[in-house]
Amino acid sequence: MFTQAALKRRSVRNYSDLKFSDTLKAEIGIAIKNLKPLYDDAVTNFKFCPASLINGEVKGKLVKAPYYIIISAKPADGYLENVGFMAEQLVIWLTEQGIGSCYCGMGRPASGAQISDTYCITLALGYPAEGDAFRSDVHQFKRKEIGSYLIGDSENDFLEPFIHFARLAPSAVNAQPVLFEMDGTSIHVYRKKPMLSKMEQMQRIDTGIAIAHIFMYAWEHGYYIDAYKDIKEKNRLIYFITLNIMEETRDE
Ligand SMILES: Cc1cc2nc3c(=O)[nH]c(=O)nc-3n(C[C@H](O)[C@H](O)[C@H](O)COP(=O)(O)O)c2cc1C
Repeated sequence: MFTQAALKRRSVRNYSDLKFSDTLKAEIGIAIKNLKPLYDDAVTNFKFCPASLINGEVKGKLVKAPYYIIISAKPADGYLENVGFMAEQLVIWLTEQGIGSCYCGMGRPASGAQISDTYCITLALGYPAEGDAFRSDVHQFKRKEIGSYLIGDSENDFLEPFIHFARLAPSAVNAQPVLFEMDGTSIHVYRKKPMLSKMEQMQRIDTGIAIAHIFMYAWEHGYYIDAYKDIKEKNRLIYFITLNIMEETRDE
C-alpha cells in the first residue's frame, strides 16, 4: 500500500551487510519494468549495481550501501522530473519490501562508466542496519507546515490528502521546493527558483518525486489524473504541470 509505505519511508543511510537473494534481484528488475513514466516517449534507464562495481561507474560522495541503482535518461523536456517520478515509485515499492534507500545527488559519472544516455542520479539501497529503521509516526518527518506548500488561499478538502502525501516526499537537502495551487479538482505544480543554480537539476527531480506521491495516492484510491501543461507564470516560481484529478477511473 502506497499510503503505508509513504508514511514509514525515510532516507536510509546505514545498511546491514545482508545480501539480496537472486529472487529479490529479479523482482527488483520486474518492479523497474513496471514503473510508469510521466511521458510515454521518455527514455529512462535503471542500472542495478553492487557496491563492488559502483566506483567504476559513479564518483563523488555516495551514501555507503550494498547496492546502487544508477539512473540515466535521454534529455528531453521534463526528463529530470520524469526520473524523479519513476524513481520514487521504485523507492515506495522497495519500502513495501522492507528495503531501505537513499537518493545520492552528489554523484557524477566516472571516466569509462558504462552509463546510457545522460547520468541523472543514483539510488543507494539495501536492508536497513539495526536501529536505522523506517518511521513509525508521521511526526518524525521534518517538513514545513502544510500551509507553506500551498499558493494563495486554496483550501480544498478534496485535494488536501493528495497534498498531505506530496508533503511527505523526499527532496534534496530537504529543501522542499515544490508548491501547489489548488484550483477546483486541479493542482497546479510549481517549484521555487533555486538559490544556487547547481540545485536546479536536483529540484527538477524533487518535483517529479512530489508528483509521484500525488499519482500513487490517486492510483491507490481509484482516481484518474489527467496531467497537462497550462500557462501559469508566477513571479519567482517555475510552473511545471497541472494535474486534474477525477473521481472516476477512466473508461477505455
Ligand atoms: C534528489 C535528491 C537528492 C538527494 N541527495 C542526497 C545525498 O546526496 N546524500 C544524502 O545523504 N541524502 C540525499 N538525499 C536525501 C534527502 O536529504 C532527504 O530526502 C531529506 O533530508 C528528507 O528526509 P527523508 O528522506 O528521510 O524524509 C537526497 C534526496 C533527494 C530527493
